[in-house]
Amino acid sequence: MAYLPRMTRPILLFPDPRLRKTCAPVGRITPEIEALAADMLATMYSAPGVGLAAPQVGVLSRLFVMDCNKDPDAPREPVVMVDPEVVSASEVLNAYEEGCLSFPDQYAEVTRPVEVRMRWTGLDGKLHERDFDGLWATCAQHELDHLNGRLFIDHIGPMKRQMIARRMTKMKRELARA
Ligand code: NI
Repeated sequence: MAYLPRMTRPILLFPDPRLRKTCAPVGRITPEIEALAADMLATMYSAPGVGLAAPQVGVLSRLFVMDCNKDPDAPREPVVMVDPEVVSASEVLNAYEEGCLSFPDQYAEVTRPVEVRMRWTGLDGKLHERDFDGLWATCAQHELDHLNGRLFIDHIGPMKRQMIARRMTKMKRELARA
C-alpha cells in the first residue's frame, strides 16, 4: 500500500458522535499503527497542541500521542501510548486550565491527580511504565479519557459545559456555511 508518511489528518470537532465512543484495544503494532502515530504527531505539532487521541482523527483505537515540552527551542519529546492505562494516581490533585484540539479556543479549569503512573505499549511493541507529573500528567489523563469517550467538559460544572457546547455547535454551523 502506498502511504505518505507524516500526513496531517483533519481533527474532528465537538460535537461528533465518534468523540463519544469507547475505543478498541490495538494489540499488535502494525505498519498501519506506526503510520497512524506518525500522522497524529504531525497533526498535533502543526495544530499546535500538546496531545492528540486517535478518535480525534476518527480512528476508534486505543492510542494517543503527546509532547508537553512547550519550550520551542528544546528538542521534541514525542510520546506514543498504545493501549495505555493508569497504574496509580496521586491523592494530591492539581487544577489546570485545559483545552482540546476538538474544542478550538475553549478552555476550562479541570482538577485531576497531580501525578500518575502510566503503563502502555510503545511502537517498539514493548510494555513501558513511567511516572508523569505536571502538564504531562494532566495531558496523559485527558488523552486517556478520549479513548473512553470522555471529554474535558465532562469534568466541569453544567453551566460552563453547556456554554462551551453551545459555542462549539455555533462554531461548527458557521464553519459548515463558510
Ligand atoms: Ni482533547
